[in-house]
Amino acid sequence: MNASATMQIVRSIAELQNILNPRKRGGRTIGFVPTMGFLHEGHLELVKQARRDHDLVVMSIFVNPAQFGPGEDYEAYPRDEQRDAELASAAGVDYLFVPAVNEMYPRTSSIRILPGEQAARLCGASRPGHFDGVLKVLLKLFNIVDPDESYFGMKDAQQLAIIETFVRDFNLRTSICRVPTVREEDGLAKSSRNVRLEPQERDQAPAIYRALCMGKRSYYEGVSLKEVEKIVSNVIENETSGTIDYVKALAYPSLDESFGEAEEIIIATAVKFTSTRLIDNIIMSSIKDEKNV
Ligand code: PAF
Repeated sequence: MNASATMQIVRSIAELQNILNPRKRGGRTIGFVPTMGFLHEGHLELVKQARRDHDLVVMSIFVNPAQFGPGEDYEAYPRDEQRDAELASAAGVDYLFVPAVNEMYPRTSSIRILPGEQAARLCGASRPGHFDGVLKVLLKLFNIVDPDESYFGMKDAQQLAIIETFVRDFNLRTSICRVPTVREEDGLAKSSRNVRLEPQERDQAPAIYRALCMGKRSYYEGVSLKEVEKIVSNVIENETSGTIDYVKALAYPSLDESFGEAEEIIIATAVKFTSTRLIDNIIMSSIKDEKNV
């Protein structure tokens, strides 16, 4: 699909809904890329896929206070609207939705969205309420944009699994597209938070993905998932100054300890550095056949 020549920045919900009104857009489909800004190649890959699949591409940039807990990095989360707008426009976004906090949350709502067990593990255990806030903002964004398809990166694999459940269980109209993690040449997953690493931490951080790859190899060589978790933890502990929040191998996308039919395995980790916390994961087939080893 062709990118439009000029991107329009929209700050008001009413204006965006007016522009995207189905009667006015005459059957053109919408690909939606929700973000918190400070764009990197991972986000641009989401745009590329949305551009390929749909007539219109809408990106939102909103650092959502509802998904940050007390003492987390809401204030310090990197922001640069001008740079983001240039990158989004060059990537082919048609409408960049950049609402203020008051526009999205004009009043405190008495209604909460509480995701279940899938959100209680991994990041949900260390960041209570985080996924409530993610689903809250996404429900609003999906209702505002009414996208045909919404694009999410696999780096946030738990978020993606919870969103898929949310969309399915509540019959939301968007479909969800999983987009593989984009990595630096040294393997570090692209993240807006990488700029908050100290120089020596940045040098060490690729060990996280090396550890996950080693975990995957060990699993296919016959090691148990408990042992895999230890192997991954040891590499991260030995090769970085970060503190491990968790290293966990679970069924994907259920995030259960036991496996249903056709489920894959995720090895997921979160590591805290001086001023930021990084997450990464690897997803693999649970079947240990010869082609996987
Ligand atoms: O992944 C993110 O950047 C955020 O969690 C999202 C999905 C944009 C909701 O604020």
